[in-house]
Amino acid sequence: MEKTVFITGANKGIGFGIAKHLGLCGWKVIIGARNERRAEKAIDELKSQGIDVLGWVHIELKDLDGIDKAAKEIAERYPELSLLVNNAGIPGDMSVDSQHTEISVIRETLDVNFVGTFALTKALIPLLSKNCGRIANITVPSEISPYWHPLAYVASKAAQNAMMGVMAIEFQQAGTPLEVFSVHPGPTTTDLNGNMSLPGFHDIETIGQKFAELICDGKNHQGEFIELYPIVKED
Ligand SMILES: NC(=O)c1ccc[n+]([C@@H]2O[C@H](COP(=O)([O-])OP(=O)(O)OC[C@H]3O[C@@H](n4cnc5c(N)ncnc54)[C@H](OP(=O)(O)O)[C@@H]3O)[C@@H](O)[C@H]2O)c1
Repeated sequence: MEKTVFITGANKGIGFGIAKHLGLCGWKVIIGARNERRAEKAIDELKSQGIDVLGWVHIELKDLDGIDKAAKEIAERYPELSLLVNNAGIPGDMSVDSQHTEISVIRETLDVNFVGTFALTKALIPLLSKNCGRIANITVPSEISPYWHPLAYVASKAAQNAMMGVMAIEFQQAGTPLEVFSVHPGPTTTDLNGNMSLPGFHDIETIGQKFAELICDGKNHQGEFIELYPIVKED
């Protein structure tokens, strides 16, 4: 199998860490970004570290027509694509409780984290299944935590997690040669959280490395929700 990956939101944050560490493991990398300047900056940095970057594809997850165009471009330019990493995402408004959350914020967060992610996944399924590929979603758990529960964000990620679970069952039942799973990196210092760096937060290098180890572990992860840092329950 060709090791070619397309990562959305790969110009910075966790997506960039994943691009770098999959690249260091021998994967050929296609950068998903919504801005040429930011894409080129990331590509320069990755190439300077010896990573084989095939190019970049414009992807704005709020633009459904653009997503279809991007999927067509990927199928034409990179017919060997075997891994899609649905990484791009937005936080919504984490500063307010649910009753003060604007409907526009709920809509935008669902549009990016779920609808756009679903549209891209759907558009790339024919290519990925032809290549017996994989789809990995970067996400958070669906269970609501008493400590942290921003409505727009957790609702959009719960929908994305449902997409993963449904597709995994459908692929298995239909014998579609395609694997889909979700990965929770745990709290990571990035722009998404204002570069918060509290005890227990990870950095994008460690997350990229652990993600690359997971991708290269040779196991089937169909339908799994994988914690990169499993929660250890005390007795
Ligand atoms: N950081 C954490 O603690 C944490 C924990 C669990 C899960 N995650 C998940 O990890 C993923 C990456 O987050 P991050 O922390 O690395 O955030 P980040 O540093 O803010 O990066 C987000 C990436 O998504 C892109 N993006 C944002 N809106 C987009 C849109 N409408 N269309 C296409 N791309 C868009 C951004 O592009 P621009 O640069 O153009 O804005 C950027 O490349 C997200 O799905 C997030 O939910 C993060």
